[in-house]
Amino acid sequence: MNADADSAATVRFLLDGEVTALTDIAPTRTVLQVLREDLGRTGSKEGCAEGDCGACTVVVAERHEGGVRYRAVNSCIQFAPSLDGKALITVESLKGPDGSLHPVQQAIVDGHASQCGFCTPGFVMSLFALFKTRSAPSRQEINDALAGNLCRCTGYRPIVDAAQVMYELARSIPEAKLDWMSAPAGSRSVAARGAEAEFAGRLADLERKDDLVIIHEGGAFHSPRTLSAFASLRERMPAARILAGGTDLGTWVTKQYRGLGDVLSIGSVAELKRTAVTATHIEIGAAVALTDAHLLLAEHYPGLDTLFRRFASPPIRNAGTLGGNIANGSPIGDSMPCLIALGATVVLNRGANRRELPLEALYLAYQRTAMEAGEFVSQVRVPLPQKESVFRAWKISKRFDQDISTLCGAFMLRLDGGGIAEARVAFGGMAATPRRAAACEAALTRRPWNEATRDAAMAALALDYQPIDDLRGTARYRMKVAQNLLRRLWLETGPGGGAVVTRLADLRGVLA
Ligand SMILES: Cc1cc2nc3c(=O)[nH]c(=O)nc-3n(C[C@H](O)[C@H](O)[C@H](O)COP(=O)(O)OP(=O)(O)OC[C@H]3O[C@@H](n4cnc5c(N)ncnc54)[C@H](O)[C@@H]3O)c2cc1C
Ligand code: FES
Ligand code: FES
Repeated sequence: MNADADSAATVRFLLDGEVTALTDIAPTRTVLQVLREDLGRTGSKEGCAEGDCGACTVVVAERHEGGVRYRAVNSCIQFAPSLDGKALITVESLKGPDGSLHPVQQAIVDGHASQCGFCTPGFVMSLFALFKTRSAPSRQEINDALAGNLCRCTGYRPIVDAAQVMYELARSIPEAKLDWMSAPAGSRSVAARGAEAEFAGRLADLERKDDLVIIHEGGAFHSPRTLSAFASLRERMPAARILAGGTDLGTWVTKQYRGLGDVLSIGSVAELKRTAVTATHIEIGAAVALTDAHLLLAEHYPGLDTLFRRFASPPIRNAGTLGGNIANGSPIGDSMPCLIALGATVVLNRGANRRELPLEALYLAYQRTAMEAGEFVSQVRVPLPQKESVFRAWKISKRFDQDISTLCGAFMLRLDGGGIAEARVAFGGMAATPRRAAACEAALTRRPWNEATRDAAMAALALDYQPIDDLRGTARYRMKVAQNLLRRLWLETGPGGGAVVTRLADLRGVLA
């Protein structure tokens, strides 16, 4: 590691205000390995090495819309090159120059919320990310922020309490002592804002003018910055592995000890990091993080909000991309059934050419897609909601937070008076690929939305799917639950059905 190194092959990032440079780094060396083994910073722990437990949580800061954006990620499955041009904040970074504890740490100590040495650093870093992104989170938002941090032995309540107290502690810090670390999101402190502007400036100085290219014995790593550069590399290297957020690929390396060979990273391609809302569509670039994609989609389809909160955890959603979820095409992935039901299309690029497919047409068989050699996913296009359309999606899994779906069902109905003009139904976890339920859709389309139609649609699901038995659920269970989701759809959207749901919600309110 050489702080002065400045070549196309050197990964450079800020750590505690200093530029840290990684030269000759294996592109699949994880951020956690760099921290613990190369830099001797052992505060971040390894619990699972697969993004599940949160013991390794760190915060990555980068320039965003003129300011700085802070996001928690799992350092165990992030590859070191992903830090290039950013700032890394670890649990060791939090204490003040005079040794004083950060408000997050102090709140944990005061509230007796410190637990074992494995989980606590991760909890602290998830809370720090929350501290820097929300000014007054609700208890629900705090729970959501901690969804990726597991404690296997004690309780979460003191930690959630500490999350509320940390803001009070920050407010009691004299203005002169506030800096960008100790000022929470939305702070009006002039000193803190000045310090943050300076921090943004230091990040701007790190911005790369050339592409990061690492040639290593395990394979070459290219991180181009434009779409055309990426597309032409992809054409030249069709066998190379595309790396987006690495939340799937990271586990290949850390759990299966697989090499990735040559890697093309899309993480720095500016055009692929954009979103847009046109007169007809929501457009999401392949390198847009799930966090941002979900926010935008749920703005237009509020029925997605709960499902997206249950998609992995904030650190996974901060690193992982919608494009990676779609390209990976896992039969139990959560985005695909939702997007298919919404009528989304996927844009595939090869060189200067592009073609657009209905998303369901991308999936040919288990782990086989219609992507041809040299092609890649560049964008997802989701139609804007139509008048009279209702959309619902539900994820069924054993745990509420941070769990893989047993199945996931998504339903879009366009209602016309008392009837269904159009129905799109898609499931994950019911077949070898995410798939539409053609027979079920036929049983719903151009029918009155009544109990007879509901029952026919439930029965038709048995023609659409022959689900498998596995550790997450038996075939019988999956079919029963899928059919019950149609019953739930009826309860929520059928004539008078909304009233049933409202009455249930009222009852829950009374019982709470
Ligand atoms: C702890 C944990 C929990 C998870 N929970 C969920 C969950 O609840 N629901 C769910 O659906 N998923 C879940 N996942 C899976 C994963 O987070 C998602 O699939 C994620 O969206 C993958 O995106 P990525 O950017 O990280 O992809 P990467 O890991 O970078 O890539 C995934 C695959 O897609 C390919 N690829 C990536 N981008 C492109 C592109 N633009 N064009 C062509 N190919 C491309 C890569 O080559 C690779 O084969 C979880 C993963 C972990 C580790
Ligand atoms: S070590 Fe468990 S999430 Fe990273
Ligand atoms: S895992 Fe740390 S106290 Fe339970």
